[in-house]
Amino acid sequence: MKAARIALRTAAPLAGAGSGSAGRGGSSSSSRLPREVEQFSRFSPSPLSIKQLLDFGSTNGCERTSFAFLRQELPVRFANILREIDLLPDRLLSTPSVQLVKSWYIQSLMELVEFHQKSPDDQKVLSDFIDTLIRVRNRHHDVVPTMAQGVIEYKDMFKVDPVTNQNIQYFLDRFYMSRISTRMLMNQHTLLFDDKSSSGHPRHIGSIDPCCDVVEVVNDAFESSKMLCDQYYLTSPELKLKQVNGKFPGEPINIVYVPSHLFHMLFELFKNSMRATVEFQENSPSLSPVEVTVVLGQEDLAIKISDRGGGVPVRKIEQLFSYMYSTAPRPRMDDGRNTPLAGFGYGLPISRLYAKYFQGDLNLYSICGYGTDAIIYLKALSTESVEKLPVFNKSASKHYQATSEADDWCVPSRGPKQSAAL
Ligand SMILES: Nc1ncnc2c1ncn2[C@@H]1O[C@H](COP(=O)(O)OP(=O)(O)O)[C@@H](O)[C@H]1O
Ligand SMILES: [Mg+2]
Repeated sequence: MKAARIALRTAAPLAGAGSGSAGRGGSSSSSRLPREVEQFSRFSPSPLSIKQLLDFGSTNGCERTSFAFLRQELPVRFANILREIDLLPDRLLSTPSVQLVKSWYIQSLMELVEFHQKSPDDQKVLSDFIDTLIRVRNRHHDVVPTMAQGVIEYKDMFKVDPVTNQNIQYFLDRFYMSRISTRMLMNQHTLLFDDKSSSGHPRHIGSIDPCCDVVEVVNDAFESSKMLCDQYYLTSPELKLKQVNGKFPGEPINIVYVPSHLFHMLFELFKNSMRATVEFQENSPSLSPVEVTVVLGQEDLAIKISDRGGGVPVRKIEQLFSYMYSTAPRPRMDDGRNTPLAGFGYGLPISRLYAKYFQGDLNLYSICGYGTDAIIYLKALSTESVEKLPVFNKSASKHYQATSEADDWCVPSRGPKQSAAL
């Protein structure tokens, strides 16, 4: 059972491939941010809608426009998040892991800024830009486990108070969201304009499917999770699927979306539901199915995943989305054969970020002693699917300055007050 728990905890790495620079040496632990970071952090990131992303890849979209946009936008997004990295508690910021991540961001920003002096009309510049994007993507491949390692180092050395805990949660949500967004932009450009990169499905525009068959992705993610579950528990629950197209009754449910993002969320939720079901129903002769309901409404697409895996006490629900409270065993950073995210307990928080990235959401409703409903909400209209991006400004920095204040709700006392007995 132990092996299975660990395996099903494994969160898939963030979408996108690349051999990655896993080496942990060579941190340029620069304590001061270069002038360029300050300069680009003055701009706010420009969120794109899925529709705008599609336009880059349409017949009148061109590589030069995309190049001109990215050489500005990527440094802006890197600079904005670098300013927030610098507001982390000193003792976290100074860990070798966080310094390493910071050095990657600075180096990538500098490499991209160099293209400001170059002409979009030069074919050589355009192809060098693609090489740079690929190099940046590879350099940032291990950002999530390296940052997670920094948090572990910090947690091991110091007792983390609730305020610091809240700040780190706030930061990591924004940091990983920023990373999802920059990977998305870099992937789109290389998939659309790099002749060497495989174009994938002919219908797809980069990583976007203009006609994403939601039920097909549900089935794929379920099968992948089922294979893992069977492998470790020698059994797995069945899928019971119901679909309702409230917008176009009777028609299949399609949306404009990034299938790899949807797969990521569903795969994580299915792994959780399967593990809970198998473990909770260990002694029953048959397993309850995992029930999935896919509904397309006028505004939202919702996917509900219901299991009978015993649920989670309501007191713990918030913790499940926390990067700091993982109960999972520590992964070994130096073991290149294992998926580095194994056991970080990042399945739910990262999945929720994917949902929120295009203005959706992911919620858990659990009944302790019975089971859990997880609901993914996505925007049904591509014009409303606009990137949700962190911006560095006064209100963001305020979050890092919050101090511990007295609770404004009474803390329940352990026993009844003496006076109450009178
Ligand atoms: N459907 C579910 N039923 C019961 N517990 C769940 C369910 N989904 C998540 N959990 C609990 O939440 C924890 C965190 O889940 P997750 O973020 O996916 O990380 P991991 O699976 O790596 O531990 C799980 O370890 C499990 O205890
Ligand atoms: Mg999980």
